[in-house]
Amino acid sequence: MAESRTESPLDPARIRAAEFPRLADSIYLNAAAYAPVPERAHRALVASLERRVAIQELTDQALTDALVSTRSTAARMVGAEAGEIALGWNASYGINLAALSLPVEPGTTVVVSDREFPANVYPWMGKKDTKLDVVPVAPSGRPDEDRLMERLDRGDVSIFTMSSVQFATGYRADLAKLGRFCRERGIFFVVDAIQSLGQLPLDVRELHIDVLATGGHKWLCSPFGTGFAYVRRELIARMEPRWIGWTGMQACSSLESLVDYEWTFRSDARRFEGGTLPYDGYAGLAASLGLLLEVGVDRIERHVLTVLDPLIAWLLETPEAEILSDLNPDCRSAILCFRLPEAERVFEELRGQGVACALREGAIRVAPHLYTSAEQIERVVEILDQCRARRWS
Ligand SMILES: Cc1ncc(COP(=O)(O)O)c(C=O)c1O
Repeated sequence: MAESRTESPLDPARIRAAEFPRLADSIYLNAAAYAPVPERAHRALVASLERRVAIQELTDQALTDALVSTRSTAARMVGAEAGEIALGWNASYGINLAALSLPVEPGTTVVVSDREFPANVYPWMGKKDTKLDVVPVAPSGRPDEDRLMERLDRGDVSIFTMSSVQFATGYRADLAKLGRFCRERGIFFVVDAIQSLGQLPLDVRELHIDVLATGGHKWLCSPFGTGFAYVRRELIARMEPRWIGWTGMQACSSLESLVDYEWTFRSDARRFEGGTLPYDGYAGLAASLGLLLEVGVDRIERHVLTVLDPLIAWLLETPEAEILSDLNPDCRSAILCFRLPEAERVFEELRGQGVACALREGAIRVAPHLYTSAEQIERVVEILDQCRARRWS
């Protein structure tokens, strides 16, 4: 099998040794749930905590500077300006920001595909001034982009919201096509990018995204409770925060004079940040983003797609296997989902043999990242082959 491998653009063994040494030999294929934090982020978190322990060393300026640097690193990850980034704590933060603050006419419709992760459905269900239309998926269970565009074209839609990569199929949406379609019709385009940022490159301008939401704990390899939202510069002044934080007000720019209350929001996306933030976590987020940018997300993309090849080949030649992911190269991501007979038993077998993956909607979901080697995927194939030889029992 080794001879048929496609060359990977990066060296996962080296990356694992330098940044994820505690993974040791375990086969961690669960980045779509949460990914490991690299050593440099671990060090950044500890250093941030140390500054609280030895607090006499800590200055207001150092805290402010750390957030400035985190916002600008986050901006680089999505092709935005730092002023378009609001630091939040998960994907729900950015989705709620969009649902609460996008300037839409009451009575208009929000469109979402069926089978979206619930984080991108409930905030829209809870939005009382608009209707929600959940567009059925294709027979494959994946979003039906033609049907979605047909729905968007009916003239009553103000917002279209979608995950860049679907959590239960790994389907990668054609965001460029959908974003252009929305922009041409004056429909706001909201993207939940938590399942793609860090494994697939993304540029908010090329994709005509108005608001992007993400959390850090999956593909961004960052601490829980970190994340950010992007808000397109031209929209910020038209979007009133509904969660009001004193740090989002212009009059609170200086800590030396805080009580001249004046109802003016900051002119950039910081208006959406509500009060004191978890600095320690953001130190970790900035460090992890730094690693991913240093390695290059385009290289990570090529790596994670090629590393899955042996598993895809095995699934294709196994008649009992049903692949739920779209294998069209434009629709693939690092998330590969498949059904097998006795999927729960196979999942337990994988777990017992040191392979971490997930069971989602009755399917096995594997999600490799920059630290996953071809040998590890070949080991997974071996285990699955043993399950097949035992007739899945
Ligand atoms: C597409 C998608 N959106 C959002 C989330 C999580 O949202 P949050 O970060 O708000 O918990 C997940 C997975 O947990 C997901 O797969």
